[in-house]
Amino acid sequence: MATGALSPLLLSLCLIGLALQRVDAAINAMFVFGDSTVDVGNNNYLNDTKAKANFPHYGIDFPGSVATGRFSNGYNTADLLAQQLGFPMSPPPFLSLSTPKCLTEQMFKGINFASGGSGILDQTGPLQVGEVIPMNTQVQNFATVRRQMDKLAGPAGAADFLSRSLFFISAGSNDMFEYSSKSHGNDTAFIANLTSTYGKHLKALYNFGARKFGIVSIPPLGCCPSQRLRNQTGGCYEMLNSLSRGFYPAIGATLQGLQSELPEMSYALGNGYEMVAYIFEDPQPLRKLFHMKINLFEDISF
Ligand SMILES: *[C@@H]1O[C@H](CO)[C@@H](O)[C@H](O)[C@H]1NC(C)=O
Ligand SMILES: *[C@@H]1O[C@H](CO)[C@@H](O)[C@H](O)[C@H]1NC(C)=O
Ligand SMILES: *[C@@H]1O[C@H](CO)[C@@H](O)[C@H](O)[C@H]1NC(C)=O
Ligand SMILES: *[C@@H]1O[C@H](CO)[C@@H](O)[C@H](O)[C@H]1NC(C)=O
Repeated sequence: MATGALSPLLLSLCLIGLALQRVDAAINAMFVFGDSTVDVGNNNYLNDTKAKANFPHYGIDFPGSVATGRFSNGYNTADLLAQQLGFPMSPPPFLSLSTPKCLTEQMFKGINFASGGSGILDQTGPLQVGEVIPMNTQVQNFATVRRQMDKLAGPAGAADFLSRSLFFISAGSNDMFEYSSKSHGNDTAFIANLTSTYGKHLKALYNFGARKFGIVSIPPLGCCPSQRLRNQTGGCYEMLNSLSRGFYPAIGATLQGLQSELPEMSYALGNGYEMVAYIFEDPQPLRKLFHMKINLFEDISF
């Protein structure tokens, strides 16, 4: 997990909030998928995982200084985006909705399916941290919710509701960490595998009713403190940064392909690498937040 890279990531995600708000103020709910950058407590419900954040000093800056399972000192990217879009709070963890009644009450307000330590690929996680909820299962969990929605609102009603919801996804970092910890393979082939698998998940979500996607690409993972240890100068670990950079154009091409194939699909792709690199260059984020032209989003098409 990119805990070391979290705080710049959080700041950068405010920018995504601004961008999405600019392009579509009429989002009725958020459904969140991905890894520790957006998990709001699903992993609290897993028994056999090292990827937990429900103990101090996580949450020290969260309201009430409570460790909720967010891999952050305070709010995380899902929370900040929800705030930017005008929701009172970001949607709760799917696994906290343990009864059918809880699920039914929450499903038209948004749900968070993300799991710290998980990846785009099924095999990411168990080796490094133990039990996680891979993207495949997150999508299947959403399918369960869709079936409940159909029962309550009818298939057309559910489809109409979901067509106005935001599907926000932040994933891929753990796949890269795991790949880079093994012997060096073919990076191009790895990224292609990652983006085509990501594409399959997105298409599955589309088939369950998702239309508007907000995707964040991978930040400069080589600049995490744990990865800087792999560079004798203490600089960023270039192999992992180069992989991280390569993800953005590749997922961009995948998204463009999906949009031309799938009617009414729209997306915004945030360049996680450039956003974090921009803040590293001059760490005066607040000044930047207010003065920056949001030109890092090249693909806004809502
Ligand atoms: C975790 O352990 C608790 C208590 O033993 C059990 O009730 C629960 O079903 C387990 N959860 C999972 C996901 O295995
Ligand atoms: C790496 O994979 C790409 C894409 O699959 C392929 O075109 C290329 O030939 C491979 N490179 C090597 C050195 O095997
Ligand atoms: C990606 O790689 C995994 C094995 O690492 C393989 O099981 C899977 O089929 C590959 N997926 C694609 C789309 O190439
Ligand atoms: C180590 O960091 C320096 C910058 O400080 C960079 O030029 C170099 O490529 C990095 N080396 C590796 C092995 O990542």
